[in-house]
Amino acid sequence: RPLPADHPLTGGATASSPLVQAYRGHRSAVTPVWFMRQAGRSLPEYRALRTGPMLEACLDPATSSEITLQPVRRHHVDAAIFFSDIVIPLRLAGIGVQIAPGTGPVFDRAIATAADVDALVAAPVDLRPEDDDGPLQPVREGVRRTVAQLGATPLIGFAGAPFTLAAYLVEGRPSRDHLAARRLMHVDPQAWARLLQWCADVTGAFLRAQILAGASAGQLFDSWAGSLSRADYVTHVAPASARALAWARGLTATADAASAAPLVHFGLGTGAFLPELHEAGADAVGIDYRMPLDQASTRLGDAVPLQGNIDPAMLAAPWPVLEQHVRDVLERGRRAPAHVVNLGHGVPPDTDPDVLTRIVRLVHDAGAR
Ligand code: CP3
Repeated sequence: RPLPADHPLTGGATASSPLVQAYRGHRSAVTPVWFMRQAGRSLPEYRALRTGPMLEACLDPATSSEITLQPVRRHHVDAAIFFSDIVIPLRLAGIGVQIAPGTGPVFDRAIATAADVDALVAAPVDLRPEDDDGPLQPVREGVRRTVAQLGATPLIGFAGAPFTLAAYLVEGRPSRDHLAARRLMHVDPQAWARLLQWCADVTGAFLRAQILAGASAGQLFDSWAGSLSRADYVTHVAPASARALAWARGLTATADAASAAPLVHFGLGTGAFLPELHEAGADAVGIDYRMPLDQASTRLGDAVPLQGNIDPAMLAAPWPVLEQHVRDVLERGRRAPAHVVNLGHGVPPDTDPDVLTRIVRLVHDAGAR
């Protein structure tokens, strides 16, 4: 399906950016860099603006676009990531959920049993990602306002992967080992599959809406997939992740498939199944801080663009230690066809933002390698 005529990828504003080029496997004069959770509590300008509840801020287009732009102005990163949350499509689908500060998503009630799953999927949800009068309108409008200000800097849209969403839904709140979710997977595999398919369609529509409205790339976050064995991931999770990504695949600027908005697949602790993350339908794979990029590249046949993987804990280290770590990440990233520098997980809220600005300068000064 073609992107709209005024989309930044169509007009060419972002097609030649280092970020889009890297996700498509081509290196530019600079290695692009952005940070997961670059918008947020590490920035005083964010803390000043964020007064009301988190999800309400996400659904107010003036607020979501302003917060998205803050780290681009401050750090000169090579991409913005839309300020939203993985549970926004669940809220828009009618689920009672809030973000409890310091805790994460908390639901009015858990989807704990097969009967709960059946009740959930009985009323099909259509979030209508293409329509301005649909439930995703505040997301589409926030994206539009953002890209109108970004010029040649690409906006990345994102969504939570079905497993990570299901892990929250089944537990009703954040958990450590996602035992209730993994139990349902084995107690009632059919109910589990219905739940994951529902999550895939809701989260896929959220990702598709952001790309259609102006995002030049998309990232699927499977933050909790690391609690799964490779076998369970392959059998019970990967098909739903592929289904979510399919909602956002093939959105092209021209008739040429190579002009599609590229997709990134990121998981935490997913070293055991990196090829499966790629095969789910991603152009690039995000690597957490546990596995060196050269090793990750080898596992992917040195054929897949990589994103990562500065250790967030290193952001607090003395600059010479951090600088050496960033240079090491750049060096190991040379093994892949292309590299987008990022953290191996999100920016900790108490990070000194000047450290992030300094990393951007270091990566840009290091040049194309
Ligand atoms: O800059 C960016 O990366 C864009 C914004 C973004 C947020 N959440 C904003 C946010 C993104 C990409 C997310 C995704 C998200 N949300 C994930 C996947 C990425 C990851 O970190 O693994 C997950 C697991 C969630 C669920 C969630 N939402 C958690 C665990 C929390 C933290 C709760 C807390 O207070 O410790 C949130 C809330 C949240 N999402 C905040 C932000 C800036 C903090 C809320 C606040 O400032 O009040």
